[in-house]
This record gives sequence, C-alpha cells and structure tokens, in this order.
Amino acid sequence: MSILVTGGAGYIGSHTVVELQNAGYEVVVLDNLSNSSKESLNRIKAITGKETVFYQNDINDRAALMEIFQKEKITSCIHFAGLKAVGESVVKPWEYYQNNIAGTLVLLDEMRKHGIKNIIFSSSATVYGDPAFIPITEECPKGTCTNPYGFTKSMLEQILTDMQVADPEWNVILLRYFNPIGAHASGTIGEDPNGIPNNLMPFITQVAVGKLKELGIFGNDYDTPDGTGVRDYIHVVDLANGHVKALSKIAENCGLKIYNLGTGTGYSVFEIIKNFEEATGIKIAYSMKPRRQGDIASCYANADKAKAELDWQAKYGIREMCADAWRWQSQNPRGYGV
Ligand code: NAD
Ligand code: UFG
Repeated sequence: MSILVTGGAGYIGSHTVVELQNAGYEVVVLDNLSNSSKESLNRIKAITGKETVFYQNDINDRAALMEIFQKEKITSCIHFAGLKAVGESVVKPWEYYQNNIAGTLVLLDEMRKHGIKNIIFSSSATVYGDPAFIPITEECPKGTCTNPYGFTKSMLEQILTDMQVADPEWNVILLRYFNPIGAHASGTIGEDPNGIPNNLMPFITQVAVGKLKELGIFGNDYDTPDGTGVRDYIHVVDLANGHVKALSKIAENCGLKIYNLGTGTGYSVFEIIKNFEEATGIKIAYSMKPRRQGDIASCYANADKAKAELDWQAKYGIREMCADAWRWQSQNPRGYGV
C-alpha cells in the first residue's frame, strides 16, 4: 500500500516524503521536475534510509497516470504538483490554468477510474483574499483572489468540493497553508527557488549568503504594529507532519474537510529580519521599497480546528525556522545545483 505524492521532489513535497517514510508509509513520487531536482530524492534517501519510487512524469499525462495506478498499490494521493509563482501567473495565466487546473482534472479522473478516492490538496491562505477577519478561521469567507495562481487554488477547492458532494465515496482534505519556511534540520533538503526569490525568507537567506545585495521591504505604511506586512510563518517540517495527520483522518472516511495549517502567530517583516539576525548572527542589509501589488497587511491563522480534529499543532518557533533555513542555504549556496 503506497501514498502517491505528486510534486514530491519540490520544497514542501520532499519534506512530506521524509515525514511519511518516518511514519512507516511507502511513497511513490510523481514529479515532472519543472521546478525541482532529482537530487532532492537522493537526499531524502540519505535522511530516511528508505527508497522512494519515482516517476518523472506530468500530471497531465494520462498514460503515465494509468501506468502508475495499475502498477503501484496506491491508496491515497497527496497532491502538491503545481506552478506557484504569483507574479509569473499574472504574465502566464493560461499556463497556470492548464498546469494546475487541467492537470488536476486529469489526475482526479484517473484516480476515480482506478477506484482511488482519497486526496489531500495543497491549498493556500491566499483563498481568503484580504481576510474578512483575523485570526482567520476556516469559516472565514473565501475572498477575491488577486492573481491567477490564487484563482487556481480557489477553483480547485471548489472542484474537489463539488466532486465530493456528488460522490460521497471521496475523502477530500483541503489544507490551507500559511507561509512555509525553514528546512529539515539536517540542512540537506530545503527550498531552492529558480532565479531571484519572490518570497521573504529565501530572499533573506540569499542576502545572508552574499548572492543578493540587500532585501527590499515592500511597504512600511500598513496598518500593522510596525507598518510592515504580518504573516503566519510555519516550519515546513510542521507543515509536512500536518499531512501525515491528515492521512489518519482520511482513514476514518472523513468526507470533505478543510483545515488551516499555521501557527496562529503573526510576525512582521522587521520581526523576521530581527529573528534571523539573532538566530544566525548575520546582519541583513535592507532598504524600503513601495508596496508590492496584491499584498495585504496581515494574514495569520486560527489553527484550533487542526488541533482539535487532526491532533496537529506546530512545534517549531520562529528561531528554529530561521536557523534551519540558514543551515540549508549555507550548506547549499547553490541549492541542489551541485
Ligand atoms: P515547489 O515548486 O517546490 O513544488 C511543486 C512541485 O510540483 C515541483 O517539484 C514541480 O516540479 C512539480 N510540478 C509542477 N507542475 C507539475 C506537473 N504538471 N506535473 C508534475 N509535477 C509538477 O512548490 P512548494 O512550495 O513545494 O509547493 C507545493 C504545493 O503547495 C503547491 O501546490 C503550492 O501551490 C502549494 N502552496 C505553497 C506555498 C508556499 O509558500 N510554498 C503556500 C501555499 C500553498
Ligand atoms: N516581502 C518583502 N520583501 C520581499 C519579499 C516579501 O518585504 O522581497 C514581504 C511581503 O510584502 C509580505 C511578507 O514579506 O509582507 C511575506 O511575503 P512572501 O512573498 O514571503 O509571502 P506572501 O504572504 O506574500 O505569499 C505566500 C506565497 C503565496 C501564498 C501565501 C499564503 O507566496 O503563494 O504565502 O500561503 F498564497
């Protein structure tokens, strides 16, 4: 019996494969390596000592999916595969809808044809738009997305919900991630963005390692305690463990469930810089920049539902997130590009 992990060579996927294998699950990874490296799978083996069955294929490739579902004994799918760069999605909307939505429709169709109706989907706090209230509970209404990437998450949540209503044999868990950062404590797997990072923590670690000159802070006039944006940063290993807990929920035939995966605490950009500097002893040069289009002031979770129903809670604090992000970056200045 195996778990199919689409996008399992990527940042969150690779950490989840480690935690799944540590919990005793057999794992099959499907990844087209469009935003990842096969080297991550070698590193996973060095951490867990276990083999990961790997298919380098696209979720749009029906024949490949048929082969996997016929050959492997898949019981559930954790579906990470997707394009995720907000800015790129504005420039290439068709590619985002094709890859994320059309690809997921093919995956779901092949799953049901093979009688596999258990799925955990990587959603995002982005579906709340500019949230109606904070801390954000799962009851907070979905908001208007500000970019095509966000719409793919919101639409896929709707598609999965409608399919589960139409066919209650499906068990569907929508996990809304807040801001994953950090890396495995070994420093051997981590986030390896292509080009100049869009997100705060990889930008900071690349400044720290000397690849980038200084961080630009996007706005200091938000309605937050110090004027910079506030987010709920969550250690990627905690996030990975949330998926292991979600699989146990699926085993109860849970039907449709939605959970926020966050810590419940918000940190501003200045607070992240300060914590990074204190965790690593490295000063981060920065300058103020105008607000980034589409950004909101504050976004952090109420994570009580995941605690009550999944018995899941984030364990790691901001210092560990910063120290682990830095260990990965400093040990692998070029990411997986060995
Ligand atoms: P990532 O890019 O590191 O991982 C995604 C993986 O999917 C990559 O390995 C990529 O090669 C693969 N992939 C993309 N399209 C594919 C396709 N058509 N067929 C097969 N493989 C494909 O990203 P990540 O940060 O690990 O994110 C994983 C998931 O979590 C994504 O769905 C993302 O949208 C979602 N998410 C991420 C964040 C975040 O901040 N990192 C926040 C919320 C949600
Ligand atoms: N920021 C900077 N400078 C940078 C990068 C970011 O000041 O160079 C600021 C942003 O303005 C924001 C905060 O740091 O206030 C966090 O920004 P990120 O880009 O790291 O994260 P976002 O909250 O904007 O978005 C991320 C993912 C989305 C996802 C969302 C919620 O990129 O895909 O978290 O999960 F939807």
